[in-house]
Amino acid sequence: MSVEVENDLIKFSYGEAHACVAKKGCTLVSFVVDGDEYLYLSEAANLSSKSPTPVRGGMPLIFPAFGNSYLESLKTVQQHGFVRNMAWDFVIAEVLTECTVARFRLSHRQCEKEQQYKNWCEFYGQPIKFELTMVFELFPDRITVNTGLVNENVSELEFQFLYHTYFRVPCVRDMYITGLKGAKYLDRLQTRYGLDGSPMLKVEEQTDKLYELGENNREIDILSGNYNVRLTASDNLKDLVVWNPWEENAAKMKDFEPKSSYRNMCCVEFGTIGGTTVTQGQRWQCQHTITII
Ligand code: BG6
Repeated sequence: MSVEVENDLIKFSYGEAHACVAKKGCTLVSFVVDGDEYLYLSEAANLSSKSPTPVRGGMPLIFPAFGNSYLESLKTVQQHGFVRNMAWDFVIAEVLTECTVARFRLSHRQCEKEQQYKNWCEFYGQPIKFELTMVFELFPDRITVNTGLVNENVSELEFQFLYHTYFRVPCVRDMYITGLKGAKYLDRLQTRYGLDGSPMLKVEEQTDKLYELGENNREIDILSGNYNVRLTASDNLKDLVVWNPWEENAAKMKDFEPKSSYRNMCCVEFGTIGGTTVTQGQRWQCQHTITII
């Protein structure tokens, strides 16, 4: 059990589980259990807080906008928002009886110089005062992330939210995702709607699907040889994105290395994309757990 701070990285462990969070975007960049790494991280990812680009890999936080948002209040904010680009504060890490906990925080004060934050504020005609907190709890077989958002001054603040998680898999073609049966989806590549009738989803080409999760889709498994994980989340995260750039698009991404590593990753991302609001003085929160099975 240990906690180490190495410049911009916070490394903590609990028994045979190890995690590492970069202050850049509060991005979980490594999650190791019994010697096996479960997150994909591009070899070209820049983990420095000063880097101008978000971390390619791990679990960056998408907030306040998903993609190029269709919501009026978020139209001027860049793809996937700006908090993944900010250097978050590391608050404290503690080894407790059952797990190791690490806390991080980002407030509007750290974003005042960020153009995307300014664009967001323009819609409300005032500086948005907010605080985001991320609390990681590392157990021997799982990691739980708790996120909180406090809206200090806007009567009704609208946002989208996503854990943009890149999972490492031995071979994407041999991977199955279960738990999506009966869920409606939007194929974002063809702007086509569908319904998943199959008990198992295979990813065998460029994929960008946005699922609307129902009551029967609250437990999603990624099954890939000896790398098997179960994803669960609080009920307010009703959407799930499955994304793989595949060969041609991986080749176009500067920070995606090696180019062939699209074969060893798949993004499976819990979030809320429809637009959620938090009223002035209130706190919104959500939770996501990755369990090794
Ligand atoms: C996914 C989106 O969440 O992220 C994709 O569904 C997008 O449309 C992908 O291409 C990667 O985005 P970015 O901004 O991290 O390159």
